[in-house]
Amino acid sequence: MKISMVLRLGTTLLCCVLAVSQAQGCKCTTHFQGKCTGDDVARCQCILPLGDVDKSVDCNKLVPKCLLMKKESIPSKGGRRLKPEHALVDNDGLYNPDCEDNGAFKARQCNGTDTCWCVNTAGVRRTDKGDKNWKCSELVRTFWLMIQMKRNNTDQVDETALKAAIKTTFTSRYKLTEKHVTLIEFEGPFIYIDLKQNASEKAPGDVDIADVGYYLEKDIKGDSIFHPDEKFKISVDGKDFGVQEPLIYYIDEKAPEISMKRLTAGVIAVIVVVVLAIVAGIVVLVLTRRKKGKYEKAEVKEMNEMQKELTS
Ligand SMILES: *[C@@H]1O[C@H](CO)[C@@H](O)[C@H](O)[C@H]1NC(C)=O
Ligand SMILES: *[C@@H]1O[C@H](CO)[C@@H](O)[C@H](O)[C@H]1NC(C)=O
Repeated sequence: MKISMVLRLGTTLLCCVLAVSQAQGCKCTTHFQGKCTGDDVARCQCILPLGDVDKSVDCNKLVPKCLLMKKESIPSKGGRRLKPEHALVDNDGLYNPDCEDNGAFKARQCNGTDTCWCVNTAGVRRTDKGDKNWKCSELVRTFWLMIQMKRNNTDQVDETALKAAIKTTFTSRYKLTEKHVTLIEFEGPFIYIDLKQNASEKAPGDVDIADVGYYLEKDIKGDSIFHPDEKFKISVDGKDFGVQEPLIYYIDEKAPEISMKRLTAGVIAVIVVVVLAIVAGIVVLVLTRRKKGKYEKAEVKEMNEMQKELTS
């Protein structure tokens, strides 16, 4: 009897506390782990915990991708979810990046190791890897994202309505100006979307297409970064239009500088091996091929691609 009363009192108190904290109105819309304080919605003070530091962020705008990746690569105490014993970590796609104070990627990334490489504004590797003396003279801008995704079902929908719904998702959810959505096309089960934004089109404070791509990918994969209240939905005629399997290609203002140097070294090794034993040579050749394939894939690879790696 007494226990149940205590429980009820406790529940009532908890409800009140929740109601009060919600009444404040300050919540982090754009990150489920962001914390905001303040009573005035227009003057919320928000932070995103990044390991030992609390980075102050604007929770009405997308959090820059560099900070998101940093957040994701810092293991949380206890772990956010259980991982299977043999789960792979895709270190090429996800690494612990060095960010500028404004959240931009530093041109050179080393993931806390002695191996370094250069990235574009989307944080994707665009050069070979080298030692810690590796130089990156500038941060090359990714001005074009080619996005591909699949429709859940191919039932007929009005294409004009669907295009409008997709545009609305970009402008209202990700706060991207409509002019940056330069193409939306449908082809069988596929949807193709182009986002373009060059440096001169991006005013300070504007969201970057690279950040939009990251949020979109997480949204489609059902692993949204937004506050749980902010459900991802492409709404066509009041119906939830389902999409899956997002794939994003990054196109930079300068061509990537991933050379064949390493490969040449590999080929020399192959020649020696071929002299020694033809069969062994073939095995090495096949391995080199496979590596080359992987190399190309790495450019378009993004976070959460580990499942694909595992199954392929
Ligand atoms: C940036 O994009 C705009 C609109 O597409 C274009 O007019 C302009 O020439 C571009 N600027 C540069 C430097 O590429
Ligand atoms: C679309 O399919 C994906 C993967 O099967 C699923 O997670 C998602 O909930 C579906 N969306 C809708 C709106 O049915």
